[in-house]
Amino acid sequence: MDDAARGKQAAARAAVALIDSGMRLGLGTGSTMAFVLDLIAERRARETLDVVGVPTSERTRDHAARLGIPLTDLDHVDALDLAIDGADEVATGTLDLIKGLGGALLREKIVQQAARRFVVVADEGKVVTRLGSHAPLPVEVVPFAHAATARAIAALGIVPRLRMDAAAPYRTDNGNVIYDCHGIDAAGAPAALQSRLLAIAGVVETGLFLGVTERAIIGRADGGSTEMLP
Ligand code: A5P
Repeated sequence: MDDAARGKQAAARAAVALIDSGMRLGLGTGSTMAFVLDLIAERRARETLDVVGVPTSERTRDHAARLGIPLTDLDHVDALDLAIDGADEVATGTLDLIKGLGGALLREKIVQQAARRFVVVADEGKVVTRLGSHAPLPVEVVPFAHAATARAIAALGIVPRLRMDAAAPYRTDNGNVIYDCHGIDAAGAPAALQSRLLAIAGVVETGLFLGVTERAIIGRADGGSTEMLP
């Protein structure tokens, strides 16, 4: 296991300790969340942990189902007690996020908005002082006329690149495409950029998660210690 994986596992362990029996959980997507799922299954093997999860991707649904974690969807529960998810960047101070490098940003945001508490798990390499300094911003776009949507995105002063899966455009679980947008760190305040992106008709959602993180659990490469932000 490399340093980043040790950090992810440490963050996952601290997040799973927040789960109480009876909770309805949002289950995010990514390699850090894979540790969370494994550790939920470990706890369920040792103790009574009566939880139900709403997965944010087909990948998470498959993994959780293989582990025997009970699952539901937001058509069958009206609110979640706690959503746990990874992130691609975590801004110090605000705990604003870039998410979606795993392609699940739309379902992740729907699940986050249905949750009373939203906790992020990440390794220390994800912490930044300015969003966009390491990761591009994923923007989910409807396939119809997506090149025209990309031109409208580029007019905001950022650089959209169509995400590919081998020779074809990558498709999300919702059948949409993703433009990974570079240069957002120089494009002004994230909240203003979010509004301008969402005003473009072809844009479905962006990977900016602003003002919604209750706590970020940052796992260190030593594998055991975590830092809680704020
Ligand atoms: C998924 O769409 C993303 O939002 C993930 O939460 C993000 O990519 C984190 O992934 P890792 O835990 O694999 O770094």
